[in-house]
Formats: sequence, C-alpha cells, structure tokens
Amino acid sequence: MKEKIEALKLKFEEELSGARESQLAEQIRVAYLGKKGSITELLKLLQNVPNEEKKELGQHINQLKKYAEESIAERLEAIKKAETERLITSAKKYDVTLPLTELSGSYSPITLVQREVEEIFASMGFAIEDFSEIVNDYECFESLNIPKNHPARDMHDTYYLDNGQLLKTHTSAAQNYIMRKYGPPLRAIFPGRCFRNESIDASHENTFFQLEGIMIDKNISISNLIYFMKAMLSEVFERDVNVRLRPGFFPFVEPGFELDINCLICGGEGCPSCKNSGWLELCPCGMIHPRVLEMGGIDPEEYTGFAFGLGLTRLAMMKYGVKDIRDFNSGSLKVLSQFKHI
Ligand code: PHE
Repeated sequence: MKEKIEALKLKFEEELSGARESQLAEQIRVAYLGKKGSITELLKLLQNVPNEEKKELGQHINQLKKYAEESIAERLEAIKKAETERLITSAKKYDVTLPLTELSGSYSPITLVQREVEEIFASMGFAIEDFSEIVNDYECFESLNIPKNHPARDMHDTYYLDNGQLLKTHTSAAQNYIMRKYGPPLRAIFPGRCFRNESIDASHENTFFQLEGIMIDKNISISNLIYFMKAMLSEVFERDVNVRLRPGFFPFVEPGFELDINCLICGGEGCPSCKNSGWLELCPCGMIHPRVLEMGGIDPEEYTGFAFGLGLTRLAMMKYGVKDIRDFNSGSLKVLSQFKHI
C-alpha cells in the first residue's frame, strides 16, 4: 500500500508539471481528488486494511491529498500569471515619449477659432483669462445687475448644484472677478464653455462656447468698441467686414447692442443664410453699466468701458460653414476629422 501511495504521488507530479492550461489542471484535480479520483479511491481502500496499519496509512494518504490540493492551487495560480504576462507582452505598445507629430487627431473647430481670436486680441494688448465653469449666483447674475426675480433670468435657466452653485450661462460671469483682479485700466478676453437649459435643434445647444472681452479705461466709448470688433472680425474672416449696431437689452450694459456683420455668403445682397436681410447677428455688446463697474470696485465717474460676448460656437459655424450646431458635441469623427490635424 505504501508503495502504491508513493507511485501515485510520482504520477500526479508528472502529470501536473505538464499542465500548461487551467483546464488541464482542473481535469487532473477531478482525476485525483474527484469522487472517483485515484486518491479518493485510496482512502476507500483503507477500510480493508488491518487496524494496526490504518492510522499510519491514513495519515500518508491524507498528506498526499493535502499535497495534491495545494499543488493544483499553486499550478493554477502560475498558469494565470503566465497568461496575464502573455497578454501584456503581446499587447500593442505605446510610447508616451513620442513627439506630438507622431500622433494623429484633429483640433475642434472651436479650439481653432478660439486660438485665432486669442492671438488677435493678444496682439492688441488684451490679457487672456480663464474662469471656472461652476460659478455662484453673485458671479453669474447679481454682480451683473441681474437681481433675483429679474425677467432676464428667464433666458438663463441652467443646471444647479445641490449647494446652490450653477453651471455658468455666459462668460460675463467672470467680469466681476476680472475687474477686481486687474483694476483699471484693463483689457482682457476670457473664453469659456457655457450651459443653458435649451431645447436642442440645429442652432441651439445646451453646451456652447463664448468669448467675452472687456476694456476699461478713461474715455472709452462706443467707437472703441466698434473699432476692436471690426478689426478682430476682419482678421478672422480674412476680409473687410462691415458691422452695424442695433439696440439690444442686457442688464449689465448701458447702452446695449446687437452687433451684426454683413452676410459673408451673399456679401450683403440678401440670401437664405441671412434671411434676405444681408446681415448676420454675431455679438451682443455694450458699454459696461456703471453699477457693474461699481460692484467690480471701479469708479464709474472716472472710468468707462465696453464689453462684448462673442459666440465662439456661432463664429466657428460661420467660419467653417457648419450647418448644425449638434455636430460639435456629436463625437462624430466624420465631422471632426475634417479640421486641422495635429
Ligand atoms: N452675456 C450675454 C449673453 O450671453 C452677452 C453679452 C456680453 C452682452 C457682454 C453684452 C455684453 O447673453
């Protein structure tokens, strides 16, 4: 019997060492430790063994059983490790140190126009600022002369967090911060992503980009505003654009305007794109309201300034002829890969 146990142990070891897959190791387990497995059978044979040998033999067989169980567990572990290793080494490798030119991708058209506009304003001495997308009520409304219950808030329905903060509805939310940061005189632009509760269609999105600009100094007038807007738009569209101002209402500017540019498609003659008017609405703007200056810590008796809120998403649509605003956030490579590649 003792020899039988030793022989079985050797056979087991030999078979197990050849098992390179977990399935095979499982089969070996059944063959030795299963209901009808060789080791289980040995234990059954014990019944016929004389009593004086039973104890010692029983111990031997149980040792073998334990040894077999542990060996199989170890083997399974080793097989799993080897499989993982194999997966890792066969996986495609990425070199994170490769220069950017080796990567492929394209810029969002909004990034492209944003950079272009930033460059133009930087060359005219404007600082470029950033601001958070989550703001508070004071930043988004109160500091802009939009008190609670003011009807202007209707157009600015947005997404509120439990703590009372909200996703900014316009880049104007940074005006107060920037006035306090720089003090007068100042000129700065601040692009950003804005959010509103909108019914989405080809020209409305709940997520869009604006680029705001403010210039505050002594004797700033509407002529300065017109000059800067015209200079910037002519650069972006690479041609002389005509602009016109129509009255527009925003609580944080006085007077307030809608700035239109002559239609780039028909040149002002009138076509379906401009609904035959020859003009396209592009940029609300105006002279900063004295109360807004005051809340920004600036004396309105001494300083004046203008502000504009350029629709960056709108500008990208015009510049690149994108007809549906939903294309920007669609994640569609067919659309996005048409733009400048990295
Ligand atoms: N913040 C305004 C909006 O998004 C636009 C605006 C900016 C108007 C600056 C005037 C001056 O509705």
